[in-house]
Order: sequence, then C-alpha cells, then structure tokens
Amino acid sequence: MNQIKSNENSTALSADSVLVREYLDRAVRPNVLDEETEKTYKANIKQLLLEKNARLVAHYYTDAVLQDLAEESGGFVGDSLEMARFGQDCDAEVLVVAGVKFMGESAKILSPEKTVLMPTLEATCSLDIACPADKFAAFCDQHPDRTVVVYANTSAAVKARADWVVTSSIALDVVEHLMEQGKKVLWAPDKHLGSYIQKTTGADMLLWDAACIVHEEFKARGLADMRKLYPDAAILAHPESPSAVLEIADVVGSTTQIINAAKQSTKSEIIVATDQGIFHRLQQVAPEKTFIIAPTAGNDATCRSCAQCPWMGMNSLQSLYASLQETSNEIHVEPELAAQAMIPLQRMLDFAANNQLKVRGKA
Ligand code: 13P
Ligand code: SF4
Repeated sequence: MNQIKSNENSTALSADSVLVREYLDRAVRPNVLDEETEKTYKANIKQLLLEKNARLVAHYYTDAVLQDLAEESGGFVGDSLEMARFGQDCDAEVLVVAGVKFMGESAKILSPEKTVLMPTLEATCSLDIACPADKFAAFCDQHPDRTVVVYANTSAAVKARADWVVTSSIALDVVEHLMEQGKKVLWAPDKHLGSYIQKTTGADMLLWDAACIVHEEFKARGLADMRKLYPDAAILAHPESPSAVLEIADVVGSTTQIINAAKQSTKSEIIVATDQGIFHRLQQVAPEKTFIIAPTAGNDATCRSCAQCPWMGMNSLQSLYASLQETSNEIHVEPELAAQAMIPLQRMLDFAANNQLKVRGKA
C-alpha cells in the first residue's frame, strides 16, 4: 500500500512495488526489424496518417525511429507539456500518441472531439500505478485546506480531483505562483520531484510517496565518481531523480529543458540523468558534443529498466501500424470525468501560455 509523508511530520511508507512489478512483467520490448521491413512499415504508416488525417505525437523517450517518423510526417516530438499543447492545437481528426497512457488520456481530455489512438494501451507509468484514485481522493479529503497539485503522470480520475495539473517543465513555476498567493500544497505522486520543488521554493507541501522506477535508479555516488572522470562535463538531470543526484546537477529540468540546456552549454561533455531515448535528439541538436549516461547501479544493478523506461519501449512501428490500420487501442475517458480533469489541465496550459517558464541552473 502507498504511503504519504509530509514535510513536517514524515511517516514514510514504500510505494507499491509488487503492483509495479506485475505491470513490468507485461512490458515486452518489440523485436528489432531489418532495414527493409522498417522502411516498408514507415512508408505504410505515413500513407495511413495521410488517409486518416492523423498526426503522430511522440515523446523523446520513444524509439528513435518513431521520433523521426513523427517529424517527417508533420507530427511532433516533445516533452509531456508540449505534447499536450500540440495535440490540442493541431487540426487533425486523429492523434496517435506514442508514449505512455497518461499522455494519451491528456490528449483525449484536451481534445474530446478527436480520436486518440496509442500503439499500445499496456504502456503505463510507475507513478500512475502508485497513485490509485480512491486512496488519493481520501487523502485529499483529509486535507481540505490544501491546494491539490498533481503531476501529469497520473490517471484521468486523479487529475479530476486536482486543482492543478503540472508537468516537470512547469511544476516549480506553478508552486511558486501558489506560494505567492499564500496557498499550502498537497502534491502527488512523485516524491522526488515534490521534494525538489519544496526545497527550491520553500513552499509548504504535503507529499505523496511514489517514484519513477527509471529515474530512481540514478546513483549520486556513481555520479560523483563520474564527475572525477569528466571534471569539465556538465550534469543535466530530470527532476524525477533522487535529491542527492539533483544536488550534484548543473541543470534540473524537463526533457525539453535538458535538450535546450545541452544545446546552449559551453561544455563539450554532458552527463545526462534521464531515459536514454533522449540521446537521439541530443545528438541531433549538438552533434559536436559527447553525451554520457549518468550511472545507475552498474554491474550490481537490480533495476529492470536502467535508464530505459520499459513502458515507453513498448511503442514500436509494428504496434503503431496495427493501431492506425485497425483504429484500435483507442483512448476513451468517461465524458463527465474528462470535463472535470480538463479544468486543472487547461489551467496549466493557460498558465504556460501567460508565463515565461524558468529553468534552474547553468551548464
Ligand atoms: P517530461 O515532461 O520531461 O517529458 O517527462 C515525462 C516523463 O514521464 C519523464 O519520466
Ligand atoms: Fe513514468 Fe518514469 Fe516511464 Fe516517465 S520514465 S513514463 S515517469 S516510469
């Protein structure tokens, strides 16, 4: 069972790792295709996207071939905030979301008139799994004096209970804004991101206890050793990483913010603490730089997904083609729930449109 902890009186409980493992066991990586077959799939998918007035929206953690296909076919690759914005703004009838389930659900909530498909409906997220809507609602009921801020990596039902939805690129700015209004925050589900925001802003935050199974594996001690090997390198980290890792990092930010920081960095060597899928875009935007993955547990690794999200990895050309051709794996969100979840999601998008988002640190 999940546990909750507050910044004042911590009663730390562990996340539901058994449940996460059960989902992980279903996350099978697709087969590698030969060059000719890959070419045929790409051509057929492009044709179907045209015929169905569909756009492919992919996350930076998905396979490079899907990211390229999204770009080449007039779709989009981005972080989770940008994916939501693109999905809402584009005039396609069909959105095919290559990512994980919460991304497909956000797209459907923001564009109820569009058909939203996903290559697989099995692609979930450890944060979503570890924040069940009923337990979360009970927690909120116990703290009616707090403004409820939830990470986008949650189910539609959890979003529907929130005052604000945020992604990693906007979370600090939104909590700072709430603090200025004298609000106390109830935060869920990522404890690392929550405590990073708490430390950076000084906000009064009550935290749910869940973590990303990928980022949680980055090790501060290994990173400090790596810094000795590459003394001139910049360290860029996603805020879902543990606090000891974030303390060493030069820049902490969302996937897009990491990419922008790498591009602008004066350093030629860059150590990156996030999913390895991002390396495809990093190499495109700064081909002259050397990118190094931050260490996980190395040879002693107990993780099943060292720096590679097993659920993002389930998206493939084969599953994408099948969902488009059969119009299968459609995302449905019950209309009443969607209307409720739309309010905090739209609040985030409006806030993003009216504010220049800040990135912490310098590389
Ligand atoms: P971004 O919003 O930075 O793309 O992160 C999404 C995510 O799931 C990171 O693990
Ligand atoms: Fe969820 Fe972590 Fe995968 Fe992102 S990388 S989708 S937070 S499990």
